[in-house]
Amino acid sequence: MTVDATLHNDLRVHYSPVGASDRFALGVTKFLRFIADTFFARKYGHRAVVLETVAAVPGMVGATLNHLRGLRRMQDDKGWIRTLMDEAENERMHLMTFVAVCQPTPFERLMVIAAQGVFYFFFFGLYLIAPKTAHRLVGYFEEEAVISYTHYLAEIDDGRSPNVGAPAIAIRYWNLPADATLRDVILVVRADEAHHRDVNHGFANEMAGLPQGTVAACPPHVDLVPIWRMSA
Ligand SMILES: [Fe+2]
Ligand SMILES: [Fe+2]
Repeated sequence: MTVDATLHNDLRVHYSPVGASDRFALGVTKFLRFIADTFFARKYGHRAVVLETVAAVPGMVGATLNHLRGLRRMQDDKGWIRTLMDEAENERMHLMTFVAVCQPTPFERLMVIAAQGVFYFFFFGLYLIAPKTAHRLVGYFEEEAVISYTHYLAEIDDGRSPNVGAPAIAIRYWNLPADATLRDVILVVRADEAHHRDVNHGFANEMAGLPQGTVAACPPHVDLVPIWRMSA
């Protein structure tokens, strides 16, 4: 795996689909992007909150299914489980961060519940029968996330959204300076998304026997620790 520290904000990074499975993954992504664009338009804070509740699902599903597979086959996971769990936790921290900035409407909360009901089972089924397609799908989701957060940055830079102070939870998690702003947080979140993009395309490639490609560097964040260690 080659790591590149400059790839995090490159909107041109796109994996060209090869074959029906990749095209299916891209088609689903473009369809969901269209729905998100129609519903949220320029409400970037609301968009971030609702979409991060979905973004945190695939990592945990992938970790669960790789865990079960490792048990069944009595084989090492080559680090996949921890990687996917870290992705799920990282996406949940995105959610915790944006919900501190933007309160979802009651209708959006309802949407989140409905979306989770549908998406969890869809993604679980997809990962069970076609894990390569599932990772490709996440790779494409993350390509879109990088684009959306770039739009959010432009929104702040053009003065259409206030550049408020960074939430305390984000300052702690990414170890940001005390005077960090929302803009600083979006930069680091976007870099996370670019990292997930490349890791998931890399996993799909590995399953397809293709070269892994370059991975955008993951911004450092603290490890979430179990309760027993917190009190130790
Ligand atoms: Fe995210
Ligand atoms: Fe993401």
